[in-house]
Amino acid sequence: MTSPHFGFAEKRVVVTGAASGIGYRTTELLLEAGAHVVALDRNPVDLKVAQFVPVDMTEATTIDAAAREIDGEIDVLLNIAGVPGTADPLVTMKVNVLGLRMLTELLIARIRSGGAITNVASIAGAQWQAHLDEVQRLLATPDYESGVAWLRDHPMDGKRAYDFSKECVVVLTKQHGRYLREHGVRVNSISPGPVRTPILKDFRESIGPLLDLVTRETGRDATVDDIARVMLFVSDPVLQWLNATDVQVDGGFMSGLVGGWVKLG
Ligand SMILES: NC(=O)c1ccc[n+]([C@@H]2O[C@H](COP(=O)([O-])OP(=O)(O)OC[C@H]3O[C@@H](n4cnc5c(N)ncnc54)[C@H](O)[C@@H]3O)[C@@H](O)[C@H]2O)c1
Repeated sequence: MTSPHFGFAEKRVVVTGAASGIGYRTTELLLEAGAHVVALDRNPVDLKVAQFVPVDMTEATTIDAAAREIDGEIDVLLNIAGVPGTADPLVTMKVNVLGLRMLTELLIARIRSGGAITNVASIAGAQWQAHLDEVQRLLATPDYESGVAWLRDHPMDGKRAYDFSKECVVVLTKQHGRYLREHGVRVNSISPGPVRTPILKDFRESIGPLLDLVTRETGRDATVDDIARVMLFVSDPVLQWLNATDVQVDGGFMSGLVGGWVKLG
């Protein structure tokens, strides 16, 4: 399938989580669109990318090393790597929030004006306003290690860690929206509903009947194509004024709750 996007030719795009699922499909579409992709993952990436950089987002030293290993300037950063609520809660928070924040803050000065950062959150983070105080307290920690210390003082179970991690991604995105004025770089997040990837079974395990409800009410789960296309759209360098916002990509489920055509229970 030919990509409808035309703003990525010759652009240098860093993609985390490129080895599987949403990140893999996003990388394929970027390559079709003529981008030079720098792929970051803990696992090897079997696509013809410009550069593969191994990273373990649970280890700050490898994030630091990865940022230094990335060649040259960057146009777009796509933070896609993530783990589900079946993982150890501290691992979930490290990968989904602290690692994402650290990598972004290490790379921001190298992202060219006119560029973009897009983070993958989730509809699991939709209650961010209800938990804003707690989210802001974690995000007030200045760095990765102090974030880990805060999390050790505030233990939570796996399901809460996943929801909290995605609430943090939505709010961090809004905080990083200042990069448009400071660096000319837009920052947005997308929040998928259930997506057919290898970790969907983990989500069914940790979220349970609510996830089945989403699938039933919207008629199906998203494909990786549904999500990857929105990643490219939101991140496209031809856009200039979409900033600091979260785009729900859930077949309308969350808005359907407000619209009344989706019913809980
Ligand atoms: N699948 C869904 O239903 C769904 C729904 C909403 C949001 N999401 C989010 O989408 C993103 C992508 O998930 P996916 O569904 O494509 O899953 P996936 O498991 O197919 O891909 C996740 C990728 O992240 C990488 N990763 C995990 N831990 C890492 C670490 N410590 N260091 C470096 N890389 C690491 C994995 O190796 C993998 O390539 C995640 O942030 C996830 O939370 C997924």
